[in-house]
Amino acid sequence: MYENEPAFFETSPTPGVVGKPLNRVDGRDKVMGRAKYSAEYPLPGLTYGVLKTSDIAKGRIQNIDTSAATKEPGVLAIYTHQNLPKLAKTPNDPEGKKAIGAPMGFLPMTSDVIHYAGQPVALVVADTFERATHAARLVRVTYATEQPIAAYTDPKAQLFNPEKIQDGKADGYTRRGDARAAMASAPVKLTAVYTHAINHHNPMEPGATTAIWEAADRLTVYESTQGVTRTQKSLSAYLGLPQDQVRVITKYLGGGFGCKGSCWPHTILTVQAAKALGRPVKLVLTRQQQFTSMGHREDQTQTLSAGATKEGKLLALIHEKTSTTSPWDNYAESNSKIINMLYECPTFEAHYELGRANVMTSTFTRAPGEAPGSFAIECMMDDLAYQLGIDPIEIRLRNYAEKDPSTGQKWSSKSLRECYARGAELFGWSKRNPKAGVTRDGRQLVGWGIATASYPVHNSSGTARVRLYADGHAVVQSGATDLGTGTYTVMTQVAADSLGLPPEKIRFELGDTKLPTAPNSGGSVAAGTVSSSVYMAAQDVWERLTKVAIKDPKSPLFKAKPEDVAMEKGRLQLKSNPTKGEDFMALMKRAGMDDIEGSGSGKYGAGYEVGQSANAAPDAHKDEAGQHSMHSFGAHFCEVHVDPDLGTVRVTRWVSVHGAGRILNAKTARSQIIGGSIFGIGAALMEATARDQHYARYTNADLADYHIPVNADIPEMTVEFIDEHDPYINAMGVKGIGEISMVGVSAAVANAVFHATGKRVRDLPITPDKVL
Ligand code: MOS
Repeated sequence: MYENEPAFFETSPTPGVVGKPLNRVDGRDKVMGRAKYSAEYPLPGLTYGVLKTSDIAKGRIQNIDTSAATKEPGVLAIYTHQNLPKLAKTPNDPEGKKAIGAPMGFLPMTSDVIHYAGQPVALVVADTFERATHAARLVRVTYATEQPIAAYTDPKAQLFNPEKIQDGKADGYTRRGDARAAMASAPVKLTAVYTHAINHHNPMEPGATTAIWEAADRLTVYESTQGVTRTQKSLSAYLGLPQDQVRVITKYLGGGFGCKGSCWPHTILTVQAAKALGRPVKLVLTRQQQFTSMGHREDQTQTLSAGATKEGKLLALIHEKTSTTSPWDNYAESNSKIINMLYECPTFEAHYELGRANVMTSTFTRAPGEAPGSFAIECMMDDLAYQLGIDPIEIRLRNYAEKDPSTGQKWSSKSLRECYARGAELFGWSKRNPKAGVTRDGRQLVGWGIATASYPVHNSSGTARVRLYADGHAVVQSGATDLGTGTYTVMTQVAADSLGLPPEKIRFELGDTKLPTAPNSGGSVAAGTVSSSVYMAAQDVWERLTKVAIKDPKSPLFKAKPEDVAMEKGRLQLKSNPTKGEDFMALMKRAGMDDIEGSGSGKYGAGYEVGQSANAAPDAHKDEAGQHSMHSFGAHFCEVHVDPDLGTVRVTRWVSVHGAGRILNAKTARSQIIGGSIFGIGAALMEATARDQHYARYTNADLADYHIPVNADIPEMTVEFIDEHDPYINAMGVKGIGEISMVGVSAAVANAVFHATGKRVRDLPITPDKVL
């Protein structure tokens, strides 16, 4: 409908724009180069910081010789652990780590200790980026080197069972029923080992910080972060400053994928350098530094056992995961959660085991836990299907969970059956040859695979402010961020409909701690939380205006009861008699009001109380939300062509169908699913960071050698959404789609490779050497 129109602001869609495929409201600014990213603010007196990082992975700094670097023209300062300003708190102790909300319990450049390769050891500041880069190369560091441990697979790594997995929020041990006994007596038993390579987020825009101290106790940071409030909290704790004296601004992001979800060391180091120097400092990570500065998805092994009946009905699931963590933190993605809830299964058991190595702490990465966890369970369901001669969709239907097996709760909504059915229809699944390794297209082996996707609704809340002007435009604000996926656009649409205005009359502002607080764009919470906040703020405006109207003898609504009044396309009118009412502009002008402000708070997930909202079901009860299990569901269908001589795998067709509540924008939602699925295909077929087993250094820390899919690797992709109404999740009925796009994708590819070749590859990525 809007697909072929040249630019958003040249069109005038009528109210009712939520769900429509509007072009991005920020698209023009981006392609014109007008959108300012965090490293693009030309401030007076700006200086350039460049990190010097450790070549060794374990040991101590013996000496840092800065004499040659200091003599270079333009060099303003060189900071090391010896001369950085003191911090109020560091994450080096558990209390400090908690107060800061730091992603890892170690801050580089607070001592001479080296824990991982790539750890910052000096920060050089110069008047240009080139001079700083050159000088950083001249800094000479000598180390007392010790033998590092590179991964949990190193025989010297001590494996341990953490009681609690930090951040991943999983228990080290989970149990439901007696899975061991159920397994022992199960007629069908399968056990398999799945490994997952280290993955790095690699957003187009690397980590970037521009720090300006306006006064000794007042700081502004332009930061490439998924959450300005979270970064503000971290920095204020580090610095011992009240939160309102630290301002964080993020107007545009070039992706994040989880690595920009926390405040990492390079940010606070830049802030400290700016303070010591008394000038603004800008620091942008190089692509190589990106691999050792903002976390990664950890290297991991999963062992999954399934017990089932001969009809393919699950009786038991036992999941074990071992992964690498840093010398200080017990971090692991919680893979077992999705394995525990995806299918009806009476018993379940999960264990986590960690091995310490000389690496930085890993962090949430593109559907953390759900993506690798779904790889294991979705490959195993496929194995079970082939072993028992049952169609892969049919076996999933036989184990369809009518309620959440992990909690026993009812689903708030679930459209997975519809996703399978629609996906199968779009893909042509019924034409599938049930035998593996027999379908050919010329020389190429052809395979079809399917996998289920699911992602939880993580509880969250946020706030927004609406200022509606009597001339018929509005400014809407929330301190959210736009990863590039469309927050600006969808919130403009929500505000437009909530205010009864065309979208070009809305200006939506985000990415600033001066605005009402919003959660991180992470964990797929942003769209649901922020849209509900905007909707609630608009409701507040209408409530206030209704009060004005019913007190105004000149208003047709004079003496009406507030609950009898509704807003329709910018008009306040009686619900029972819509002809009785008036336009808000007429009302405001008569009342002498130039503008009116409203604010609202949006809850996402179990904290949401069903009430008067755009989405409330008439029979929904106020406190019922928390009693539901809330998830998006979907299904991915994949076709691959495998070259039998070369072992190369090419994805040739793709269909994804999801049920994710209300879809705010058909175009940006489709793009988001496509983007996430492409990264899933990357994890399945090519993405892997190699860590040298002796030196514990990454050997392919760049985009030449860390392969991600490019356009030529990806076929036309078909994406559809099931029309789904969920009254329990938030005022707008929106479930997140940021991460479900990636869940199940690597299994869909692996299952297609099995169907093509008869070979089961459980070691990601599925490179040609493993296929042959
Ligand atoms: Mo995303 S991995 O929730 O930032």
